[in-house]
Amino acid sequence: MSQILVTGGAGYIGSHTCVELLESGYDVVVVDNLCNSSEESLRRVEQITGKQVTFYKLDIADRAGMETVFQNHEIQAVIHFAGLKAVGESVQKPMLYYQNNITGTLVLCEVMQKYGCKNLVFSSSATVYGDPASVPIREDFPLGPVTNPYGRTKLMQEEIFRDFHVADPEWNIILLRYFNPIGAHKSGLIGEDPNGIPNNLVPYVAKVAAGKLPHINVFGNDYPTPDGTGVRDYIHVVDLAKGHICAVRKLEEKPGVVPYNLGTGKGYSVLDVIHNYEEACGKKLAYVIGPRRAGDIAQCYADPSLAKEELGWEAQYGIREMCADSWNWQSKNPDGYKSI
Ligand code: NAD
Ligand code: UD1
Repeated sequence: MSQILVTGGAGYIGSHTCVELLESGYDVVVVDNLCNSSEESLRRVEQITGKQVTFYKLDIADRAGMETVFQNHEIQAVIHFAGLKAVGESVQKPMLYYQNNITGTLVLCEVMQKYGCKNLVFSSSATVYGDPASVPIREDFPLGPVTNPYGRTKLMQEEIFRDFHVADPEWNIILLRYFNPIGAHKSGLIGEDPNGIPNNLVPYVAKVAAGKLPHINVFGNDYPTPDGTGVRDYIHVVDLAKGHICAVRKLEEKPGVVPYNLGTGKGYSVLDVIHNYEEACGKKLAYVIGPRRAGDIAQCYADPSLAKEELGWEAQYGIREMCADSWNWQSKNPDGYKSI
């Protein structure tokens, strides 16, 4: 039986995608080295779905290990989440980021090629657009410049994939450019579990709501946006996960290398997010306006119409549900997967 290989499947987006894959009838094999996740997430995926996940604790750069996976399973397509994603850390440790994200991807693709699997769905990011000249952002907008090594690994991987397809048109690679994934599965069993103090807004707000951090630092209120704070296209992680099922189906049409924005098309400010989270958790949240964060842009939101037309995918959930589901996960798992 053909199976879907999910690299990084124990992580935040990967675990939610495993649920959707299993619920859509796919057989799932996960490769993850657990450098930023816990195997508990996969046990919870099995609990939610009542189905089994085959798990290999393995680095994608471990060629021999990856070969074993392809020998043991008939892999129909790979969804490639495995990668490091912290912008600040990537500035401090660029070698680690290029090694892990670029070398790892090259080894993965070499092994895929050797075993005749040339169907890939890739986790790209809206960061590849750099600071866009206008919003909403369409897939044909110019790419870059990107201001940090993490973002450059995403842009480089997109370019590497295009080269693969030029050399061998049998490669089909869907580049999913995520906007800002937040929220959690309705069950509250899986969610985002960052190590240490979160870098991203919603995980930080969740910790303030839980009383683990004193206040939210709002990074600037002098942007040219309605309330002066940064505007982003937040997307529910379950909607995002469903986008991957549509992409896997699209691969059957042999589309070549194609990018799709996965966003809602709606922009919300930092203060909008805080206020929606206050409603979700039922209390006021303290915040302090501070300076802008280096590298941030004023606004970023998607034109998601291409994904609707060509993948038949559209986000269903709004910001209220995103905040409610984030809080449901946070309150049921105050220390993430370490809560058990
Ligand atoms: P995550 O850290 O929760 O998941 C990534 C997973 O990959 C982790 O489980 C980690 O242990 C694993 N991993 C990392 N390097 C590996 C390696 N060399 N071998 C095997 N496993 C490895 O992150 P996430 O938020 O779920 O993101 C998934 C993907 O989506 C990443 O590629 C990320 O860059 C991309 N992305 C995320 C966001 C976001 O806001 N979360 C936005 C845009 C793009
Ligand atoms: C960040 C990364 C981006 C990455 C994405 C998902 C940067 C510069 N960009 O995007 O490359 O793809 O995460 O991992 O890090 N904010 C606050 N206070 C906080 C945190 C954030 O006010 O404590 C603001 C930011 O200024 C921004 C918004 O909240 O306006 C969202 O920030 P964040 O969640 O970090 O996402 P991005 O910056 O969009």
